[in-house]
Amino acid sequence: MKILLTGGAGFIGSHVAAAFLAAGHQVVVVDDLSTGDRSRVPPGASFHLADVASPELDAIFARERPDVVDHHAAQISVTASARDPLADARANALGTLNVLECCRRHQVRKVIFISSGGAIYGDAPVDRIPETRPPAPLSPYAIHKLTGEHYLRFYRAQHGLAYTSLRYANVYGPGQNPDGEAGVVAIFCTKLLRGEVPVLNAWPDDPEGMARDYVYVEDVAEANALSLVKGDDGIFNIGTGTAVKTRELLETIAHLLGSEPRYTPAGPRPGDLRRSCLDNRRALEVLGWRPTHDLAAGLAKTVAWFQSHA
Ligand SMILES: NC(=O)c1ccc[n+]([C@@H]2O[C@H](COP(=O)([O-])OP(=O)(O)OC[C@H]3O[C@@H](n4cnc5c(N)ncnc54)[C@H](O)[C@@H]3O)[C@@H](O)[C@H]2O)c1
Repeated sequence: MKILLTGGAGFIGSHVAAAFLAAGHQVVVVDDLSTGDRSRVPPGASFHLADVASPELDAIFARERPDVVDHHAAQISVTASARDPLADARANALGTLNVLECCRRHQVRKVIFISSGGAIYGDAPVDRIPETRPPAPLSPYAIHKLTGEHYLRFYRAQHGLAYTSLRYANVYGPGQNPDGEAGVVAIFCTKLLRGEVPVLNAWPDDPEGMARDYVYVEDVAEANALSLVKGDDGIFNIGTGTAVKTRELLETIAHLLGSEPRYTPAGPRPGDLRRSCLDNRRALEVLGWRPTHDLAAGLAKTVAWFQSHA
């Protein structure tokens, strides 16, 4: 199968590219390298430097004629989206629409769209959020991810383009960028390795921190590989169904690194949700997907990677 993968020079996209190649598929990466790195694109994948919102995307589709499109490219910072909603809309809403228009014009069979289970449900104080929970996005980032899902339904109904939307929980693993505001695992690993004291954001009445569902990146890549042949016209949470508080996460990472779990307490940042944990049963039933790494196993691999790249 020939797969055009947007955002394939990024953290998750590069793992997805590797999984597709390992399964014997042809991979064409499109990335503008705004946060990605050309060196992350695995050997064996071809590469086009382009913005997914630009008109030049059409010529890439015309030349490559992919069977399936996997759309990971996005502006990924919730905080940046709140600061500059127009820039977020350009990359995440118009960019997605441009990708879908190219799919329509070039007879792509299916698009795999990357959504966010961590953002679009808003603050959901339930144990595990099912896909049936009405979305309540609280940031331009989440609004534009949800907009992408609405467009998927339009292109399915109007143009017969099959889709799968994967709503990721908090993804972590080797290669994650520690420099942004997101990616707390990468931030904790990097800070502790440098001997710095990380910040732990928490509400005053809940000093253990935010409850989050951390899913390992290789498991996420496997969900994409399964979606090539299953899950047409479905929306799936991709998470572990287990919530972990920030302090426990920090203590586990510090233990693996053999360092002290010291931190500087701070309040919540604008847009921070208290709890987000996804019900993943639909992905098991329809895609046959389940996470194969628990937090201890995933963190062990991640910490080892950050140690070897320190
Ligand atoms: N990391 C998480 O926990 C998480 C959770 C939910 C959803 N997601 C989604 O997963 C996808 C990948 O995220 P990531 O964590 O790997 O981030 P990342 O920043 O490492 O990857 C994004 C990639 O997209 C590229 N890109 C950005 N804007 C582009 C544009 N306009 N045109 C072309 N390329 C562009 C970047 O250069 C980068 O290579 C995103 O869609 C993100 O919203 C991530």
